[in-house]
Amino acid sequence: MTDKAVHPADGYDLYSEEFRADPNVQYAAMRAGCPVAHTDKWGGSYMVAGYDDVRDIARDTDHFTSRAVEVAGPLEAAGGLSLPPLTSDPPEHKAHRDVLMPFFMPTQVAAMEPMIRAEARRLVAALAERGGGDVIEHFSQPLTLTVLTSILGVPPGGQFHDWMIRMIRVGPTDQAVRAEAVREIIAYLGQLLDDREAAGGGADDLIDYLTTAEMDGEPLTRKHRIGAAFLVLIAGADTTWSAIGSTMWHLATHPADRQRLVEDPSLIDTAVEEFLRFYAPVTVGRLAKEDVALHGRCVHAGERVVLPFASANRDPAVFPDPDEVQIDRRRNRHLTFGSGAHRCLGSNLARLEVKITLEEWLAVMPDFRLAEGAEIVWSGGQTRGPERVDFVAEPAVTGATPVAGVPA
Ligand code: HEM
Repeated sequence: MTDKAVHPADGYDLYSEEFRADPNVQYAAMRAGCPVAHTDKWGGSYMVAGYDDVRDIARDTDHFTSRAVEVAGPLEAAGGLSLPPLTSDPPEHKAHRDVLMPFFMPTQVAAMEPMIRAEARRLVAALAERGGGDVIEHFSQPLTLTVLTSILGVPPGGQFHDWMIRMIRVGPTDQAVRAEAVREIIAYLGQLLDDREAAGGGADDLIDYLTTAEMDGEPLTRKHRIGAAFLVLIAGADTTWSAIGSTMWHLATHPADRQRLVEDPSLIDTAVEEFLRFYAPVTVGRLAKEDVALHGRCVHAGERVVLPFASANRDPAVFPDPDEVQIDRRRNRHLTFGSGAHRCLGSNLARLEVKITLEEWLAVMPDFRLAEGAEIVWSGGQTRGPERVDFVAEPAVTGATPVAGVPA
């Protein structure tokens, strides 16, 4: 068994300009002839690319731990941040997941729909009045952060956006920035939880819930409370705003798909799944618990394996014409939300946010395109999505469309 023999895709750089612009070139080459690649960059990792490999390792809690799911960063620092259930392994994982489950049940998610729709309408109306803007800054970030702060039960504010950027976007390639953001978020959530506990609870939100929630008949530890709140905040932020950003970038650059959706909104459900498949934003890591053989290579205990769900979603063995967006694709077993025990707890909420975006946006601005000279820079690493999507509405929409029941 070879260890670090040179393979064609070795030395990949998840943060290089080339990889961020289009990782699918690399993924396709790997699926065709180099199913496992290795790099020393960003703390070092192996990467698999085929659907079965990505799915099987995501599910394989016997040989791989979720103690550190980052795709980059020094391995000796891996596992410092506890985010239950994301960073938990069996047997504790299930109990940790059950703690958060009540907030993500279908009925709970459905109850959030009016709030999400009202916020989407308000943001779309403001964009229509301006005749355009940046999908990310003016729509997908405020929408997703409003949803998250409403789940947590805290007022939306500038600090959340700043923390997310420092932790998730800058952090992986600058550990000092990440550590500082993590410290600030932990201090904020810790104080919030303490204040709410002292106030006696009673609110219908995640923070109050965590102050009284129990596991195995015992109250949660302070570390568990902070970690669970922290997880919801980061798991639902740039993941969802990237998915919405890619979706709207696609529609701004593919008028035929946009026109089809406007003429036949019954396609929105399959379109949401297809945009999620095609632009899968999330890549996660695992650490090998013991030496593991992967296609003739040896991943040593403690080494990282990177799972690009986006690559699995383009595997021609599973998806016919995988590099085409087919908004009416019926059979769509994409891995965008992962697979197995750790499968995304917020998938129904994320889907709802993308669906509401399409419904509300296309009703008000059916025709839009990228602004002249708009340059799209894609983020890379753990979460891929466009950093900005500057667009103009066509023909210019003058005056906001009045929206009943939504405060201006
Ligand atoms: C399009 C948006 C989203 C994508 C692509 C996404 C993707 C993922 C993926 C791939 C995982 C599995 C990670 C692993 O296997 O290690 C995951 C886990 C998780 N996600 Fe999401 N996610 C999204 C939105 C959300 C939202 C909105 C929330 C909640 C507000 C959320 C909460 C969670 C939680 C709590 C977990 C941990 C589940 C566990 O470990 O048992 N996600 N997500």
